[in-house]
Amino acid sequence: MIRTGEKKGIHADITIFVQQNRKAMEKKRILITGASGFIGSTIVARALALGYETWAGIRSGSSLRYLQDERLRLIDLHYGDPEKLTRQLREEMNSAGSFDAVIHVAGLTKARRKEDFDRVNYCYTRHLAEALQKTGALTGTFVLLSSLSVMGPGDEKGYEPFCANSIPHPNTAYGKSKLKAEQYLMSQTTLPWLIIRPTGVYGPRDKDYLILIKAVKKGLSVGAGFRKQLLTFIHSQDLAEAIFTLLEKGIRGKSYLLADGDSYTDNEFNATVQEVLGKKRVIRLKIPLWLVRPAAILSEKVAALMGRTATFNSDKYLIMKQRNWSCDIGPLREDIGFTPRWKLKEGVRMTTEWYRKEGWL
Ligand SMILES: NC(=O)c1ccc[n+]([C@@H]2O[C@H](COP(=O)([O-])OP(=O)(O)OC[C@H]3O[C@@H](n4cnc5c(N)ncnc54)[C@H](OP(=O)(O)O)[C@@H]3O)[C@@H](O)[C@H]2O)c1
Repeated sequence: MIRTGEKKGIHADITIFVQQNRKAMEKKRILITGASGFIGSTIVARALALGYETWAGIRSGSSLRYLQDERLRLIDLHYGDPEKLTRQLREEMNSAGSFDAVIHVAGLTKARRKEDFDRVNYCYTRHLAEALQKTGALTGTFVLLSSLSVMGPGDEKGYEPFCANSIPHPNTAYGKSKLKAEQYLMSQTTLPWLIIRPTGVYGPRDKDYLILIKAVKKGLSVGAGFRKQLLTFIHSQDLAEAIFTLLEKGIRGKSYLLADGDSYTDNEFNATVQEVLGKKRVIRLKIPLWLVRPAAILSEKVAALMGRTATFNSDKYLIMKQRNWSCDIGPLREDIGFTPRWKLKEGVRMTTEWYRKEGWL
C-alpha cells in the first residue's frame, strides 16, 4: 500500500525523470542533403525507419521519386548563396528547432566543367557548415560524405591497402574537391564533424554500376588496362547503417574508410555479375589504357557539345587507371563492430532483382 507522501514522492520522481529524459524521448531531428540522389535517398529511408524526424535537402529541379513518404519534410537549401542559406536555416530553427545531425550527401561525382567540383563539393559544404555554425541550427554532428577518391593512387605495385593513416594526394578534380571540403571541416573547432570515405557504392537506384551490369548482360565483360586492378565495393544500405551507428555512438572528429572489407579484381567483379545474371558466356575485353584515355576525353567533349555531363570522362579515366582501391576498414570494425550485411554476390543479386523489377535491366 502506498501512503500519500510516498505517492507525491513517486510523482515528483516521475516528473523529474520525464523532464530529464524529454530530450532523449523526443524524436531526433536530422537533415540529409542530396536526398533526391541514389545514396541520399537510401540514407533518408534508413533515417525514417530508425524514427528520425527527417528533413530532406533537395533543390527545385530534384526528382521526388524516392521522397514520397509523407513523414518527410522537404527543404530547398540555397548552398550557393551563403546569406540566403543562413536566413533559411535561422527561420527553420526558429520554427522547428535545431538539428541533432546533418548528413551532407549533396555533391557532384561527374561534372561538365572541372571547377564545378570545387564549387559544389567544397564551397557548398563550407557554406552549409558556416551557416549551421552561425545560426546554431545544428547541435550535433556534421557528417560529410566524402570519398575514397581523396586518396589518389596508393600502392600501385605491392597492393597495400589504404589505411586510416594513409596521406591523401588526390589526382582527380573530384578527389581534390572532396579533400578540400574535408580539410575545411577538420579545421573547425566548434563544429563536431565526422567524415566518411566510401569506396564505390552500389545498390538499388544506382545508375553507374548499372552500365557495367548491362554490359555483362549483353555478353561483354569489360576491363581497363592489362595490369591487375583491385576494386572494392560497399552496398548503399551498409553505408547508411554505418553512418547511423557512428552517429548513435556519438563518434566525432574522425574519418573512416568504408568498404565491405573484401577486394576483387575487375575480372572477379564481372564474373560475380555474370554468375548472378546466369549469363553462360561473355566476351572478355581488356581495353588498353592508352585507348581509354582518348576515348574518355572524346566522350567528355561530345557530351559537353550536347549540353550533357559524361559519366565516362577524363576524371573517370584516372579512376579507371588506378590499380589499387583496396582499403582497411579495421577502425570501423573496432569502433562500431562494423559487419556489412551485404557481401558482393548477395548485394549484386538484390540490386539486379531491383533493377529487373523497375525495368532497368
Ligand atoms: N556513388 C558512389 O559510388 C560514391 C562513392 C563515394 C562517395 N560518393 C558521394 O556520395 C554523394 C552522393 O552520390 P550519389 O552517387 O548518390 O550521386 P547522385 O545520385 O548524383 O546524387 C547527388 C545528390 O546531390 C545533389 N546535388 C548535386 N549537385 C547539386 C547542387 N549543385 N546543389 C544541390 N544539390 C546538388 C543531387 O541533387 P539533384 O537530384 O537535384 O541532382 C543529388 O541529390 C556525393 O557527395 C558523392 O561524392 C558517392
